[in-house]
Amino acid sequence: MLQRDTEAELVQRAVGARTQAYAPYSRFAVGAALLAQDGRIFTGCNVENASYGLTVCAERVALFKAVSEGAREFLALAVACGKSPCAPCGACRQVLYEFAPDLLLIMADGEGKNWRSAKLRDLLPQGFGPSALQK
Ligand code: THU
Repeated sequence: MLQRDTEAELVQRAVGARTQAYAPYSRFAVGAALLAQDGRIFTGCNVENASYGLTVCAERVALFKAVSEGAREFLALAVACGKSPCAPCGACRQVLYEFAPDLLLIMADGEGKNWRSAKLRDLLPQGFGPSALQK
């Protein structure tokens, strides 16, 4: 659980990041905002590519920015897209699970008017994480 105003701030940061989306092919702009344990917020947008398959989602851009800046622990991620709230794709769920299986996901529409929350663990049951590699 997060304070409602913290959720609202994350949603607004995701909505802001969405304006930077590079999505000439799908024309589906997505923004994300990731709250680290130390209070920093890292944003991301989807970045598409003419080869299509090399597109990177907003959530993974935010996570990779964060890790590259030294953050490893995360509390919540807001994602903003489309007419109604959307949930992160399966690839993003897996990548987020690596660092934050207990992450709170806040899923908002593209304007940040409506959102709902869920735990990553509930959206990726029995996830495959670092501990699964024990031999
Ligand atoms: N996309 C995201 O950025 N995040 C998601 O969770 C789902 C999909 C992007 C990828 C692509 O640029 C566009 O949305 C359409 O799939």
